[in-house]
Amino acid sequence: MIRARIIGTGSYLPARVLANAELAATVDTSDEWIVERTGIRQRHIAAEGEFTSDLGTAAARRALDSAGLSPADIDLIIVATATPDQTFPACATVIQHKLGMTHGVAFDIAAVCSGFLYALSVADALLTSGAHRTALVIGAETFSRLLDWEDRTTCVLFGDGAGAVVLRAETGTGTAADHGILAHRLHSDGRYNDLLYVDGGPGSTGTTGKLRMKGREVFRHAVTNLANVMTETLAAAGLAADDVAWVIPHQANLRILEGTARKLNLPLDRVIVTVQAHANTSAASVPLALDTAVRDGRIKTGDLLLLEAMGGGFTWGAAAVRW
Ligand code: UT7
Repeated sequence: MIRARIIGTGSYLPARVLANAELAATVDTSDEWIVERTGIRQRHIAAEGEFTSDLGTAAARRALDSAGLSPADIDLIIVATATPDQTFPACATVIQHKLGMTHGVAFDIAAVCSGFLYALSVADALLTSGAHRTALVIGAETFSRLLDWEDRTTCVLFGDGAGAVVLRAETGTGTAADHGILAHRLHSDGRYNDLLYVDGGPGSTGTTGKLRMKGREVFRHAVTNLANVMTETLAAAGLAADDVAWVIPHQANLRILEGTARKLNLPLDRVIVTVQAHANTSAASVPLALDTAVRDGRIKTGDLLLLEAMGGGFTWGAAAVRW
């Protein structure tokens, strides 16, 4: 049977760092509040003229380098983003062009913070069906441009960044010992659209709009939904929480990571935490965390990874991946 295996990772954060203390000079907040309630210490902000496609292209190039491949080897690009450079064309085709590719297929997926899990699942389906062989899956966002910088309940939480993986179709045995994506599960429930949304859009207001969130309610759903989908995904792979070497979570709030780990009886030292360094980068946060832990040597061949995310929609999902 065919498995989609991750053979390279890369990430990119814009140069400009915005620390909590600097934010506290412009809105009624404090470093203490932000650290205590979220774990966030800083976020990166894209420069003027630096777009989501630039962040995504930089992360993709690093992922290709780490896989030892070039754009010529890629036949599928899926970009998860809620902040494309333009309403259309898809950010994926912009990145395709920036990579110098005129072959293959490139398209975007809109599932906000869960976007990378959605994109990974679609790539897995297209690779394991035999339709494509080598894919770039990218999460790239410039959420700084969606924020209301006067709203302290949201502007302290998000940042810009990108992460990418290269996936290749390989032959597996069909057991949980295979390398690659072993199982994934996705969910959505549109009843909760109004708990986390942007108050504009090309088809309604004709403007981009600003991010709005009822944080406390999102938090409550997040821990339950994430713990459930993680358990469901492990069961689909024939595995249990004890088998997990590393949880690679969406980085929204340290307390969500702690609460979710507790529900699965997993110690926090098996959870990759990067939220302190870049805040919530939406679809970019899972591949940013993955790339960090691959490059610092924590993730080793054979490790079972459990990727998870939850975001606006609501959307949520998880994937079990053997490294
Ligand atoms: O990526 C998609 C998923 N998104 C998330 O997962 C976000 C989920 N939610 C959260 O992470 C948390 O709910 C927040 C970090 C957004 C808020 O933390 P909280 O502990 O739930 O705080 P709260 O909303 O209950 O607010 C507590 C207090 C309020 O004041 P009062 O009403 O108790 O007087 C807020 O007005 O904290 C106040 N507050 C702030 N104070 C200082 C809210 N934001 C700030 C702030 N600085 N930035």
